[in-house]
Amino acid sequence: MSSSSQASQQVPGSEFKEKLPLRDGFSTRLGVVLATLGSAVGLGNIWKFPTLTGSSGGAVFIIIYIISVLLIGIPVMVSELAIGRSARANAVDSMRTSTPNKAPWWLIGALGILSAFLIMGFYTEVAGWVFAYIFKAMSGSILSTSSEVTTAAFTSLVTNSVLSLVWQWVDLVIVGAVILFGVSKGIERVTKTLIPVLLVLLIVVAIRSLTLPGAGEGLEFLFKPDLSKVTASTLLAGVGLAFFKLSIGMGAMITYGSYFRQDQNISGTALRVAFSDMSIALLAGVAIFPAVFAYGFQPDAGPSLVFLTIPSVFASMPAGNFFMVIFFILTFIASIGAQVSLLEVLVSYVNEHLKINRKAATVYSMLGLAVFGSLAALSSSLLSNIKLFGLTFFDLFDFTSSNIFLPVGGLFICIFVGWVWGKEKFFAALTNNGSLNNQGFVSFLFFLIRFVSPVLVLLVLLNGLGVFA
Ligand code: PHE
Repeated sequence: MSSSSQASQQVPGSEFKEKLPLRDGFSTRLGVVLATLGSAVGLGNIWKFPTLTGSSGGAVFIIIYIISVLLIGIPVMVSELAIGRSARANAVDSMRTSTPNKAPWWLIGALGILSAFLIMGFYTEVAGWVFAYIFKAMSGSILSTSSEVTTAAFTSLVTNSVLSLVWQWVDLVIVGAVILFGVSKGIERVTKTLIPVLLVLLIVVAIRSLTLPGAGEGLEFLFKPDLSKVTASTLLAGVGLAFFKLSIGMGAMITYGSYFRQDQNISGTALRVAFSDMSIALLAGVAIFPAVFAYGFQPDAGPSLVFLTIPSVFASMPAGNFFMVIFFILTFIASIGAQVSLLEVLVSYVNEHLKINRKAATVYSMLGLAVFGSLAALSSSLLSNIKLFGLTFFDLFDFTSSNIFLPVGGLFICIFVGWVWGKEKFFAALTNNGSLNNQGFVSFLFFLIRFVSPVLVLLVLLNGLGVFA
């Protein structure tokens, strides 16, 4: 394997490196994998995956999600990381400097910034709920297997305008603080220790959930597909979840790629991240659904599902309250890794492109998000009657980002890498100029990026938006 300095001189696009300000980077290769995993793993695994699986019919939805990760998610992730590492800049500038002519491909980066806003808008609210649940768990008030008790606790939180805003803003301040410590120190330190511990706890919860009387129905729901549940909107939701889960289609992986070392194996990293992330989502499913059925919750309860069910599982465990506190703390920390990467898309752009220093860029981004996000935060209280296209702001931000903007962003990334950036640069970036022995796999990925992933995304998008109906 060539040394990182040699590789950095040869990777196409790295000539732009000289023109850009010196960037902070991930210090070790393991740090890179963990930080990228830290972006992928978050509320998407523990909150969104179960929510969507419950409302979209279980096993069939899971199969669509897994296929989407394999045929669309991994190729798009690899493409984004490759562009970012070659161009070494924020998402907008990376796209601009990677474009050989004057075509406006940087708009993909701009769309990503918009997506970051939409996602952060509702994500910060859910993270705020998780944070609030740490304290609710500490007080012991939610440790109950009764759906009335857990439902009342959740409802009293989300219907309270003041609390909703406060928790969201507390979350924003914490994420902003993590970002201010800088890329390698802030992000790596937070994610390095966390994920294995969360995994262990999820396994404990899964074992408890599986051994509850009546758990079998939940397993059937998770693993026995009912093909009649495949609809245009299930397909779109499955593809959208793959994008959301892998943090792709909106520039986060371009931005993270820009911090990658030149000797990093991009496709290997993407594979490891994608499989670990998917396993954590499935594990969360196994932890939650048997309990949903055992305790008679509604699988399609929507965003509240996890907040109602998880306390019940812990209530049926020895030392349950203690473990529940740890669970919500870890989930909150996992959400920070994801939020940091979302905010990083904004901050690196404001910092490098608008030439505002990182500290100020972070503060401005947070203030913008606090204002914008309050629309989502108030969606179950003050603004619950305001609906656009029949959706509250919370649902609208969630739906448009995952089901439209991320797939559209990913579609254009595929077209760009497959047809504009081209084979030569892609191969150079993915084989580290021939020093990795992975040509066969890279050819296969390039084939997917050119012909398979964009066609699938386009068909699912048009179908989901009712074009073929
Ligand atoms: N992947 C993150 C999660 O599952 C969410 C995310 C989406 C992060 C897009 C960054 C970009 O929680």
